[in-house]
This record gives sequence, C-alpha cells and structure tokens, in this order.
Amino acid sequence: MSQPVTMDKIVAFCKRRGFVYQSSEIYGGIRSSYDYGPLGVEMKRNIKEEWWRRTVHMRDDVVGLDSAIIMHPKVWDASGHTATFNDMLVESRTSGRRYRADHLIEDATGRDDVEGLSAEELTEIIQTDERVKDPVDGGRDFAPVRPFNLMFETYTGPVKGPENVAYLRPETAQGIFVNFKNVLQTSRVKVPFGIAQVGKSFRNEITPGNFIFRTREFEQMEMEFFVEPGTDAEWHEYWLAERWNWYTDLGMNTENLRFYEHPKDKLSHYSKRTVDVEYNFPFRGWSELEGIANRTDFDLKQHTAFSGENLTYFDQAAGNSYVPYVIEPAAGPDRIMLAFLVDAYAEEEVRGEKRTVLKLHPRLAPIKAAVFPLTKKEPVASVARELYDELKGDYRIFYDDSGAIGRRYRRQDEAGTPFCITVDFDTLDDKQVTIRDRDTLEQERVPLADVRDRLRALISG
Ligand code: GAP
Repeated sequence: MSQPVTMDKIVAFCKRRGFVYQSSEIYGGIRSSYDYGPLGVEMKRNIKEEWWRRTVHMRDDVVGLDSAIIMHPKVWDASGHTATFNDMLVESRTSGRRYRADHLIEDATGRDDVEGLSAEELTEIIQTDERVKDPVDGGRDFAPVRPFNLMFETYTGPVKGPENVAYLRPETAQGIFVNFKNVLQTSRVKVPFGIAQVGKSFRNEITPGNFIFRTREFEQMEMEFFVEPGTDAEWHEYWLAERWNWYTDLGMNTENLRFYEHPKDKLSHYSKRTVDVEYNFPFRGWSELEGIANRTDFDLKQHTAFSGENLTYFDQAAGNSYVPYVIEPAAGPDRIMLAFLVDAYAEEEVRGEKRTVLKLHPRLAPIKAAVFPLTKKEPVASVARELYDELKGDYRIFYDDSGAIGRRYRRQDEAGTPFCITVDFDTLDDKQVTIRDRDTLEQERVPLADVRDRLRALISG
C-alpha cells in the first residue's frame, strides 16, 4: 500500500515530470501563478475536453460560448460583484501582513462556522479569542476587519481615469447571462437548455495557496442551465447526479468524493441552494472542486433591470412568458487536475521492483500510448516509426527508443501513459506487436493492422 501523497511530493513530482512549474521561476517566481508544462497542458486540456464532450457534444440541450474576459463594467454592478464580491481582510499591526480573516480564525481555532460572518463579527472573534495570532510573529494586534473586493481592476484605452475602469472577469458565468438573448435568437434552443463556457477567470485572492488549488488566475468550466420556474429543484438533482458521475466515470475514487450542502444561512446572494462536490485532499481535507447552484432568476432579472433589455423567455407551446431559473454547475479544471493527480499517484512495488505510477483514466492521461522499438536498428525501428506516424494524428503518442525497455516502461508509468506498444523482432515475422497495460502489467499481442482500433477501444474504455 502506498502512503498518502504529500503536497511537497506532488509539487516536486509535477515539476520533475513537466506537469506544472512555478511561473517566472528564473526571476524567483511569482506567488500563486503557475505554468503548465508539456504533460500538464495535455492533462488539463483532456479535463476540459472531457467536460465539454459530456456537457455539450453528448447532449442536444446544451450549446457552447466563448465570451470576452473584459466586459462592460455595468455587468458587474448588475451581478452584484462590485458591491459584494468581497473577502474579509485583516491586517496584523505587528508584521504588516494581511490575511483572510475567516482563514486566520479557522487555522488558529479549528472553527468551521466563520465563513460568511460580517466584518464586525470577525473583528470581535479576533479580538477576544486568544488563540488567534499572527502566524508570522505570534502578535495579537490586528486592525479591524474590512471587506476587500476580489476583482482585478484595469483601464481600457490610454487614459487611466475612473470613467475607463474595467475588470478582469471573476467568473465566466456573466458572459453567458449577457448573451442569453443572442443565443435564444440565433440558435434553436428551447427551455430547458444550457449554455456552457470554459475560460480564464481572475480573483485577487488575499490568501492564494495550496499550489494550483487557489490561484489568482485560474480557469473555470461553467454551464448555466435555464429551466422553467417550478422545475428547478428537480433539475438541480439531475445535475448533481450528472456531475458526480462525470468524476467517477473518469475513475475518481468515490471514497475521496462527497457532496457538501451549503447551510441555508450561508448561501450566496443569488442562490436558493448550493451543493459542492468536494475532494478529500490528504494535505487539506475536504475541499471544493465545484459548486452546483440554483441561481434562480436572479441574474437575468438583474441584467434586465440594469440594461433595460427584456430577458424573458416566451414558451410558444404554452403561450406564456417567464424569466427562467438557472441551475449552474461551476467547476475549476486546475483544482480538478490536482485532485485527479493526487487520486492517481501511487508508489508501489510490483514484481520486486519499485515504481511511481499515475493511474489516470486513459481519457485524462497526457500521453495515450508510447511506441517502443526493441532496438534502434533496422528494420525494427522503421516498423515502429510507421506505427507511431499512423497513431500520432489521433492522440498524443510518445516515441522512445532509448535505454532498456524496463526503464522506458517506468518513465511512462510515471507520466500516466496507459499503454506501451513494443515492436520486437517477432513483429517482423508475425506482424504483431505487444501492448502492455500500465495498471495490470498484462501484455497482449495485437496485429499491427489492428493497433489503431484496439487503442481507440482501450481508451474509450
Ligand atoms: N459562477 C459561480 C462561481 O464562480 P465559485 O464557487 O466561486 O462559483 C467555481 O467558482 C469554481 O471555480 C470553484 O469550485 C473552483 O473549482 C474554481 N475556482 C474558484 N476560485 C478559484 C481560485 N482562486 N483558484 C482556482 N480555482 C478556483
């Protein structure tokens, strides 16, 4: 049995194998920014593609969208972000450090009931509970807690004035709401239907951390599913099940996955009910991977009020109009990737040999198959090359002809490559190759002509 993986180990592994690097590392790095290396970029793309495939392509009631990051500033007034998208900030007068007040209290006291409390309530706790100390110097002299808006501000055009203030979007969702009418008028969708979007969002988090779990620049995969009021509770249940199945169908261990129901008094201003999908990270416990919210008709009504556009839906069959309710599954591919990495990482001993292996679902694996010629010599090498050329248009395939075959296997096990295909001397006679399975280590002989189909079948599982 392997030990649970630590954060240090996963960070070092991600760097060593080219999954994730600290951003701007040659300049000493910048806190909370990360770059995805050759294997990481493939894996994150696979996560986003699996989400898109299942949420958009496999369905006939969801369409896609790619909206701008910089939107009209009024969008954020309407959505409530300019007024209320705040975290509670507290400054230590001894070290000058700033902390998220709820996190500071949670870490010091183990309390789990402080998120969502007002600035005054948090100030009261910090001042009276002696356990709350500045983690840097142990000081207990804190300024009063104050709200801090998480939106990144910028200016459009050459003049830096209040009239040119704009924001980097803090969620992709609002791009969907403001295009509700466009999509209705230009595609043949009918309620119930969804609009999905994947893209970058930005939040000036006070305390980013835990590697790619909480960063200031991150990606979101969000879908707004518009339904008739009254059917919203049922659709919410439907999307809870659908999203749960997405994780488990991609191989996530159900013991590490759970739903967390937000208490009614802690719900966001727009939500009637929110349920998170949480993953049990060994280094931080149960943590949100995605939120699935019933946003009611809040956003469409707000945008109607602020823009003056009518955002009601006319139901032709029933002959009535209404503002749809919205069920929103909102997920983060960065932290989902961290969860899948942790879930798949194992150090084990097989057949007397130690190996590190990433037991990723083939659909998520950065490299789907590696092709190994047993020798660099001809004609084995050119048979292997030809096979590689045949397969590489379908997926990311890796060609490796250097070192002992055992070493080549171990390198691919670490990268999570589910299948290694070896071209050996027998291939020249029987026109067959060996496909080795990463997890079972079983090897099957497959005719060269069938490898492509066999691989496709193995990957779609
Ligand atoms: N539109 C609703 C919304 O944005 P959210 O719970 O604030 O809801 C959805 O964000 C998901 O986006 C989260 O569950 C998480 O996976 C991801 N996310 C949010 N903030 C993040 C951050 N600072 N770093 C990485 N991922 C983040």
